[in-house]
Amino acid sequence: MAVRGNSIIKGVEISEIIRLLNRAYADEWLAYYQYFIEAKVVKGIMKDAVISELTLHAADELRHATMVADRIVQLGGIPLLNPQEWFKHTNCGYEEPSEFDVVKILEDSIKGEQCAISTYASISDIVKDKDIITYNMVSQILADEVEHEEDLQALHNDISEFIYNIKKSIS
Ligand SMILES: [Fe+2]
Ligand SMILES: [Fe+2]
Repeated sequence: MAVRGNSIIKGVEISEIIRLLNRAYADEWLAYYQYFIEAKVVKGIMKDAVISELTLHAADELRHATMVADRIVQLGGIPLLNPQEWFKHTNCGYEEPSEFDVVKILEDSIKGEQCAISTYASISDIVKDKDIITYNMVSQILADEVEHEEDLQALHNDISEFIYNIKKSIS
């Protein structure tokens, strides 16, 4: 535990920051797995572009899990040790792919990103001006999640428009 480093945290309980970060940590692992498995099972038009995006996101979520775990340890906490705990602590849950169509997979993923944005925005409100290190980390992750949502939405729009045009041209 970083004794002097943690002494600069004011106005918020360290145990509360650890609790919030462990919940986010569970979210990151579940998001990682969701992207990982979606990239394996996704089907349909422009599938390759979607697989590239999902794979990129999976890597980012795993990187976020690493950042969050490192900060938990720095604060003197212990990151969740058992994957079974992920489901108990997650904010955003896990959207098991039910239909493998590109459009449905993208919609599930967009929902996940929107939840991640809300989660990190709320942590950032809590630690702002109190724990600058966690605040900076959360800001970086939040920027990634906003970019994720935008990339998925743009892909979703492109594919939807493409499908619409094809349907129009054959009708
Ligand atoms: Fe993430
Ligand atoms: Fe994300």
